[in-house]
Order: sequence, then structure tokens, then C-alpha cells
Amino acid sequence: MSLQPRRAVGTPASRVDGRRKVTGRATYAAEHVVDGAVHAVVVDAGVGAGRITAIDTRAALAHPGVLAVISHLNAPRLAYRDVPASIDPEGTRLRVFQDDRVRFFGQPVAVVVASTLESAQHAARLVEVGYDARPPVTDLGSAPAGEPGTYARGDADAAFDGAAVKLDLTYDLARNHHNPMEPHATIARWAGDTLTIWDKTQWIGGTQREIAAVFGIPDTAVRVISPFVGGGFGSGLRGWPHVTIAALAARQTGRPVKLVLSRRQLYFGTGFRPRYRYRLRVGADRRGRLSAMIHDIDHETSSYENFVEAAMLPGQMLYSMPNVRQAYRTVPLDVNTPIWMRGPGYASAAFALECAIDELAQTLRLDPIELRQRNEPANDESTGQPFSTRRLRECYTVGAREFGWHHRNPAPGTTRDGDWLIGTGMATALYDTARATAQAYARIDANGRALVQSATSDMGPGTYTSMTQVAADALGLAMAEVEFQLGDSLMPPTPPHGASMTMASVGSAVLAGCDKVREQAVTLAVHDPRSPLHGADPRDVVVRNGRLAVKNDPRRGETYRQLLTRNNRPHLEALGAFTPAEEHRASMYAYGAVFAEVAVDARLGLVRVRRMLGVYDAGRIVSPKLADSQALGGMVGGIGQALLEHTVTDHRDGRVVNANLADYLVPVNADIPDLRAIYLDGDDPQANPIGVKGLGEVVLVGVAPAVANAVSHATGRRIRSFPITAEALL
Ligand code: MOS
Repeated sequence: MSLQPRRAVGTPASRVDGRRKVTGRATYAAEHVVDGAVHAVVVDAGVGAGRITAIDTRAALAHPGVLAVISHLNAPRLAYRDVPASIDPEGTRLRVFQDDRVRFFGQPVAVVVASTLESAQHAARLVEVGYDARPPVTDLGSAPAGEPGTYARGDADAAFDGAAVKLDLTYDLARNHHNPMEPHATIARWAGDTLTIWDKTQWIGGTQREIAAVFGIPDTAVRVISPFVGGGFGSGLRGWPHVTIAALAARQTGRPVKLVLSRRQLYFGTGFRPRYRYRLRVGADRRGRLSAMIHDIDHETSSYENFVEAAMLPGQMLYSMPNVRQAYRTVPLDVNTPIWMRGPGYASAAFALECAIDELAQTLRLDPIELRQRNEPANDESTGQPFSTRRLRECYTVGAREFGWHHRNPAPGTTRDGDWLIGTGMATALYDTARATAQAYARIDANGRALVQSATSDMGPGTYTSMTQVAADALGLAMAEVEFQLGDSLMPPTPPHGASMTMASVGSAVLAGCDKVREQAVTLAVHDPRSPLHGADPRDVVVRNGRLAVKNDPRRGETYRQLLTRNNRPHLEALGAFTPAEEHRASMYAYGAVFAEVAVDARLGLVRVRRMLGVYDAGRIVSPKLADSQALGGMVGGIGQALLEHTVTDHRDGRVVNANLADYLVPVNADIPDLRAIYLDGDDPQANPIGVKGLGEVVLVGVAPAVANAVSHATGRRIRSFPITAEALL
């Protein structure tokens, strides 16, 4: 970052949008006031597979206020161009109201548009849909898998057969839904052939491209606005069918249309973390050196799209071993298409892998940290590349010390506190350092204030705040003098707000844009005979608090305001860009070690998490307070994954039976103990100019297995079906 002092980056700034959020002035998708908007309610399929034979809309249309009922019977044929530059899975995306097929329970089959929400809701219940139904196939265990993706090094089968210690373990991981607080919602308004949509999305550009492709119009004819996102965890990474439905309803009725999915509809209308069956065979010698792992990874996908995620990588590079074989298969089912959910792929793979390592430690009567230390690789054995930075050993050591790990009695089921069985467990976390091309606009005005814009999102990590910190330092301004704006497709393009790459990618673009503008100001000053900086070496000029000055002669300088005013420049502006190097020259991951203490009621099987610590090697921490928000939130999510969260399908008709927040359990305050996060000081200069490795995902990965391992240590019983319920422990 040139000579610029780091003043805002690294400080625990409070959210710059915090006041707007707590006073209700942060406008979420459904809250935008659009004149003349009417309301749409989706009618969803009541069977799990088959065909629609009839739709009787007479009663609905007769209901007061109803403007239209749209289904495949009267919807226009939509263009549905392919979207070549998308991140969508292979296959054919769900085409709303284009045919009579029902592909999964809850699929949208019609939409009712009415002048009031109540009218639309009531009329939606009056739409009668007839089906020719067949029994859906929704159970992961009862359907054939597709062709596997494979990986192999060495001869894992022979090495496993010959290993002194062999484990053959199968883990069943429940389907999870994101359940963000804000439901998915869209307002769509046409003006001639151009469309504006206010949407809950984690990818402004992706939603723009998707809707343009669906309607066969240029991307530039679609404007997407999304300044606030009330949580996402990955559910906002696609333009889902309801976005198309809102736009279609607006076009058919000639009115702006607001569509909000109900909590129940979120279980069918957006994706989910797929259910996994993960069989892992582990071979080791008696001292715990791993010789082989064989991974058979199966998870669900839909019948129309093949969703895949990065579940193979942890098994290839987390531990050192000569022999690995993997087969990764998706199982097409009569369900809607899954999508990434926090720590996608890694969270599921690490759940199995990190439980298995703990099981091996128990088998060998070896400390689980010692076992991991003995299998720490010197480089990335999946690619042969060096690690950019990998400080896992330090995560283990610092974590063990701070958690008091070595006070534990290693024998499972031996520590009691009254009726409670006490156990401790730990697990490793990792997530790759993703980066992608991004741009940002930066401007300094003659009044000394700055505006920075980029079409990214803030689903909760605090993008508004952290980008303001980066911009403030690069411009030499106080944070209060910088306004960062996001969430509009008219702003410079960015990658998806996901995969923990926003700070690495968008942050680097913000840095580049602000560096350029500051350099413009410095150039202007050193060439201006009226400037005290005239003739100075531009490389010696730093900017602090909006004042440019020679670093070793700070009296020699002037403010942005003086410089721009005197030169009659209303502003200076620049476009910053970040493009990651084509090839990784190093293996780049964020890492962590997670420690948990649990108490299990010996008679009731209830599990309470008593405390938790995460130690992270995530590169530079731009914003420690926001980092804590991510880390502690990740722990809450992981505790849910381990003990509570489970999307339950009735395989007779394909219905999600707990499609509500009363029956789909997520942790509440009473479930969460003291949580603590520690970040190893340092940065990763190879990863990106800011030196961050990404934090939002790695903080979820490793939490669930740490809890599961603690439950096993407490009880002496190993549960391999997650979440771990009281009934499983009884
Ligand atoms: Mo995250 S699953 O990339 O929103």
C-alpha cells in the first residue's frame, strides 16, 4: 500500500451502516417503495413428481383485487438463453411456467397477482391444480448415482489393505437450509423494454445476466438494485425462479410487482446444502502416520441440474499421505437444485474427515492434535505446490494453550460434572483463498470527501465498513470522509459475494482505484507551481487526514480541498481493477483450529456446548470487530450443523416436513456459550494486495466436527449421523 499509513485497516471499526440498520433505514429488497406496485404470491406444486393435468383459476380470478393468474397455460414462451459466463451447475435450469412437468414438491406452478397482499394470498389458495402424480424419488440411499469424479495418487487400495490400522467409516450428513433472516424477495418494474429489479441477491451481475437471458434482452436492459441483504449464507448466489416470476408478472400485468417468498417457500424456491453420505476408509501405521485414504462421496442433486462443489480438495491436501483415492458422485433426485452454503464442499468434507481423524486418534490412544501434527504436509500434495502461507501448527499450539486442551483426561466417557458428561474435542478448518476479477470506482471531491462504488453486496460480513477502511487508508482520509456504495448494477462489476472472496477481490479493486486517485492528486500537486509540493518527488508524498505532505517534511503540504479548489477541479476520479494471476503459483488456503467443550446429560442425551475457541490463519484481518462477527457467527452455524439443523423430507411425497423455523431447529441465544476467536497476526502477500485469505467460510468449517468429537469424548459413543440428536444418544 505504498507509503500510506495503515490507520483504519486493522482497527475494530463499528459498522458504518449500523445506525441505518438499527433505525430501520436500511432498505431490504421488499422494503423499497415503488409506486403502483401490486403483489404476487406463488402457487407451488403439492405433489413431488408428475404432470399438471388442469389448473382451475375461476375462483381465484373472481376474488376481489385479483389482476391475473399466470401458469404454463397462459404464460408466454420465454427466451431462456444459455448464460455462458454463469456459475450455474450443468444442466437445464428450471424454466418457470414453460411446461406441465412437476420436477419436485413445491415447484412454482402458477402465480397470482392482486392489488393487495391479502388478496393475492387468499386467491393463491383458490387456485385448483390437478396432477397426474408419480411417487418421487428423494432419498439419497435409494437412487443410483451418476458417473463419479475421481482422483487418485499412489495405490490407496493396496496401501489400505496392508495398513496396520484400518478404519472404515460412513458419515451421513443432513441436508441444511440457509434460513437467512430476510426472506428472498423481488420487486420488478418494466419501462418499455427495460427492467428494474430490487432483489435480495449476493450477485448483482449474476442476477442481471440471468434475467436478461430469461427474457432475451441485453444485460444493459436490466438494472438490479440490492443495497442491503439480510443474511444469505449462499442462498443469494443465483437468480432463482421467483425473480423471473416477479418480472414475468410485472410484464403481463403492466404493473410493478412485489413478490416475497414465504418462509416455507424458501425451502423449495431456493437451494440448500445437499445431504451427503461420506464413506471414508483410513489406513495408518501404529504411530499414526497416515498411509492411505479412500473417499466415497455421494450427495444429492436435482434431476435437471448437476450441482457439484469442492468436497474433494480437503481429502487431497489437508494431511500428508502417499496414497489417496476418491470417487465423488451426485445422485439426481426429484428435488430442487442445491446450492453453496457457507463453507460449501469443505464444510461437508471436513465434517467427515475431521471426525475420522479423531476416531483414528481414539483408536491409537493418541492425542488428536499430536496425530495431526504428525501428518502435517510440507507442501500441497495434491498439486506439488508450496503453500503461500500455512500456519496450522501454530493454530494447534495457540489453540491448545488458550483452550487449556491438555488438562483433559483423554479417556472418553470419564469426566463428569453431576449429571453431565463432559468432553472436549477439536477439528481443523480450511477453505481456499478464492479471488476473481473485480472493479471499483473512486472519486475525491473538491470538498475533501470521497465516494467509492462497486456493484458488490453486503450480506452481513460488513462490506460497507471494511471497504471504507481500505479506501480511507489508501486515500489518506478519515473513515467518516469516505462513503462506500454498493448494490447497483450500474456500478463497476464484481464477482459473486461469496466464497470468501469479496475482500480479496473487491477490496483489491477498491485499493487500486483509491491508489490511482491519490496518485492523481499527488501528480497534480507536484506539477503545480502554486502548490507547496511543487517539485517534490511524488514517491515521497503521503496523505493523512486529507492533507498531502512530504513524508520527511510534513510542514510542506496542502489539503485535497486546497489543491482541487485552486485548480478548478470539481473532483478527481479513477476506475480500479483487480485481476488475479492466471495461474496459482502457490497453494492458498485459510486455516483454523476449532476447540469445543460440551456437556451431555447422561440420562436425557441433551448436548450443551459449554465453550468454544477458534484460532485462524486467515491472513490480514482488515476489521477485527467484523472478523469476530464472522467467526462467532460461523461457530453458531457450525453448532447448529452438529446438533440441530436438519431439513427433513417425507420420501412418500417429497415434501419438506419441517419447512418452518419452529421445526427446522437453529441455535438460539440459549444454545450458545462463550465463544472466542483468535487470529494469527500476519498477512499473505501472494494472495492479493491486501494480504487477506478470506474469513467468512473457514470459520464455519471445522466447527461441527469439533462439537461431534467433543460429544464422543464426553460419552464414549461415536455418532456418525448428523445432526447428533438427543434420541441418538439415548
Ligand atoms: Mo457463501 S456459500 O459463498 O455465500
